[in-house]
Amino acid sequence: MKLTPDARFPTLCIHAGQEPDPATGAIITPIYQTSTYVQEGLGKHKGYEYARTQNPTRAALEANIAALEGGAQGFAFASGMAAIGAVASLLQAGDHAIVGDNTYGGTFRLFEKVLRRQGITASYVDTRDIDAIAAAIQPTTRLLLLETPTNPMMGLTDLAAAAEVAHRRDVAVVVDNTFASPALQQPLAFGCDLVLHSTTKYLNGHSDSIGGIVVAQRDDHREWLSFYQNAYGAILSPFDSWLVLRGTKTLALRMTQHNANGLSLATFLAGHPKVSRVLYPGLPTHPQHALAAAQMRGFGGMLAFDMGSVEAARRVVEKVRIFALAESLGGVESLIGHPASMTHASVPPERRAALGLTDGLVRISAGIEDIADLTADLAQALD
Ligand SMILES: Cc1ncc(COP(=O)(O)O)c(C=O)c1O
Repeated sequence: MKLTPDARFPTLCIHAGQEPDPATGAIITPIYQTSTYVQEGLGKHKGYEYARTQNPTRAALEANIAALEGGAQGFAFASGMAAIGAVASLLQAGDHAIVGDNTYGGTFRLFEKVLRRQGITASYVDTRDIDAIAAAIQPTTRLLLLETPTNPMMGLTDLAAAAEVAHRRDVAVVVDNTFASPALQQPLAFGCDLVLHSTTKYLNGHSDSIGGIVVAQRDDHREWLSFYQNAYGAILSPFDSWLVLRGTKTLALRMTQHNANGLSLATFLAGHPKVSRVLYPGLPTHPQHALAAAQMRGFGGMLAFDMGSVEAARRVVEKVRIFALAESLGGVESLIGHPASMTHASVPPERRAALGLTDGLVRISAGIEDIADLTADLAQALD
């Protein structure tokens, strides 16, 4: 099997990075569950010496996701947070980062509770506003960390414009692309420098693995991340690499259904009298709908809606039958959650208020079940 240079996204999902196993011809990359590799003689080996440093299953996944993001090289880590930590390792004491103000709570915690102790500072900026990004750049700023759409407020950042203002001041741009997946958005194509994922979510897609990946483009980033991955050692296991490889085979197909179900549920909720507001970039009422249409190929499976009070939100999340009340997102099964008390409980109440993250907000990760069943379930819970 040889991929042509113009192979399209669904074909890359299934084939990129994967050759039949050289030992047996197995069409699926085996789980190379080994810690070390036997060497023929001193300095004579097959390119594999020790499994923290190199593992064929992990290498296949890294090549696969690098191809999906259109990047040069991937580096798989034990979790999405370990991937964010790897990117943060590009910073040194005295450096400054700009981070989106509605960033994932774990990213905020990493910057405030770990990196700040090491002399790295961060400013939290509403990156929907490109002028605000430009204004926040200091002489010591080295990194701009973006999420688009954000969790759970569904705010977007114009990636090409953000990359342009950052690059003018020599600031590297990294995008946490977990929410969109490369099926919907490829940040490197907009000029960003690095992309990362919690593979736990859409890339694996089956809610049975924790993992993370960074895709790099620049030679200096690739060199550092190769060194760091081995030096720090927080690698993705062969089994988890294999699970995510299996997941990415169906990424294009799954995202088509996540998009369709997300849009359908958002439209249903927007017309429901008990719902005061719906946050979904696919709705024409979303203030950044035009940017979403230009920057994304589909609007995704994530949406949030406001029930007006914590009591009303509680009733909905406790009355649904098909939606599971759980943290996380991006799996084939639909999940529902209450950001203020679950995913964003670690965000101080005044920061939540400033973001508009109310106690009545409910978040949905639309799975790929039949849309009629999902809509009926929400309808009975709301009634
Ligand atoms: C946008 C985003 N980035 C990073 C992470 C962290 O990933 P992990 O839980 O795999 O460490 C999450 C987890 O929810 C997330 O939603």
